Amino acid sequence: MPKASRWFLPLVVSVVALAACAEETPQETLEFTPASVSGDIPCEFDKSLAVCRNCHGSPLKSGAPFPLLRLGDIRGSYNGKTVAERAASALTTRFMPQPPYDKELTDDQRARLTSWFQMGAPLGMRCN
Ligand code: HEC
Repeated sequence: MPKASRWFLPLVVSVVALAACAEETPQETLEFTPASVSGDIPCEFDKSLAVCRNCHGSPLKSGAPFPLLRLGDIRGSYNGKTVAERAASALTTRFMPQPPYDKELTDDQRARLTSWFQMGAPLGMRCN
């Protein structure tokens, strides 16, 4: 085998393998209740926020003070801080989500949502 193909062949093999992988991964099918559709929030966080929208939805329920439906709600302010900052602390201290929805986020979802809030709720890939 010529010297060059020692690296060229594995490269080709891995590119082909990657391409095959990409093709086989099915598009995730997402199901939403109307309350969880926001339109401008990155898909992953939109799904986690569905838990919050049991109260922070439209209409507001159980005494929740603001909605968490769109990016504007999250980047807006509440009591002198951004909602995003307050939400990051509320998640860290486990003040939110309140019962009976307090077990509905996994630790991973909670951690990822918290860091998204800490970053100021940046744009990302949307669900549709
Ligand atoms: C069961 C209803 C309920 C759910 C579910 C819920 N909240 Fe709340 N949330 C409330 C209520 C009620 C308040 C007002 C509490 C207070 O001021 O004592 C509140 C207040 C807040 C506040 C303001 C806290 C502050 O600093 O004063 C934030 C931020 C918040 N919620 C974020 C969230 C997030 C994020 C989720 C989802 C992960 C969530 N909430 C889920 C009911 C809920």
